[in-house]
Amino acid sequence: MNKRLVKKCLFPVAGYGTRFLPATKSMPKEMLPIVNKPLVQYGVEEAIEAGMTNCAMVTGRGKRAIADHFDISYELEKQISGTSKENFLSGIRRVLDQGIFTMVRQREMLGLGHAILTGEVLIGDQPFGVLLSDDLCINPERGVLNQMVSLYEEFSCSIVALQEVPMDQVNRYGIVSGNSLREGVIRIKEMVEKPEVGKAASNLAIIGRYILTPDIFEIIRHTEPGANGEIQLTDALNRQASKGGVIGYKFEGKRFDCGSVPGFVEATNYVYENIFER
Ligand code: UTP
Repeated sequence: MNKRLVKKCLFPVAGYGTRFLPATKSMPKEMLPIVNKPLVQYGVEEAIEAGMTNCAMVTGRGKRAIADHFDISYELEKQISGTSKENFLSGIRRVLDQGIFTMVRQREMLGLGHAILTGEVLIGDQPFGVLLSDDLCINPERGVLNQMVSLYEEFSCSIVALQEVPMDQVNRYGIVSGNSLREGVIRIKEMVEKPEVGKAASNLAIIGRYILTPDIFEIIRHTEPGANGEIQLTDALNRQASKGGVIGYKFEGKRFDCGSVPGFVEATNYVYENIFER
């Protein structure tokens, strides 16, 4: 039986993926493959490995392929049944056997905070993971979410994954400041979304893995949209951090920013050379 304290993971997959146009004109960004597996499947496998077998997807218009991917494809499976090609589906079959998939649609893309609030109906009143599948994280020994659940079990508050980034790239990320509790673990005081280069408090950037306590929903409900009209998760997390309720964790593993073309290409080369087997 799964005894871990975090059993659900939210996947905000409603964004437009404009950096990959025209590929993402009618295909979800999260279905872009790194070699032979869509980004979102890497994410789901990481969540399941962490014990979060209940995968809640916040989708949007034009994202039906994601729901179809996490379902049986009768015609295809019948067609290749009994042939060597069946092996190509064994990974996704394992995922389908282990996971439960629920979906809700975000009708307007009003930002990550809004996407998370849209997922409240699927999560309810319990701590939950959030995984942004365009951040591909690889640690074959122990996935990043799995590492973070252990930290949640210790601190019982929200946990955000951190990575050191070059100082001239801080303006692309949410940047944190806080007090070190031990190597790789800090209690966050403040987060600033995309600070100007030269004005950031550190080079510790928030990447797309979170464990959130459910009070975040009420906080987001009262969070005003930011400068670009989007409801920022960072603003809501700052409210939790002001009460000491957010821990930052420098995770162990590799991370690729697959929301950008260079990161996507780098991930493809890495997976092809180090992980892909056929
Ligand atoms: P991004 O801003 O990186 O994704 O959002 P995007 O908007 O799809 O990409 P570009 O910039 O246009 O290329 C981070 C994550 O949050 C989700 C996205 O799907 C992505 O996984 N998201 C963002 C939502 O689900 N809803 C939103 O309103 C915004």
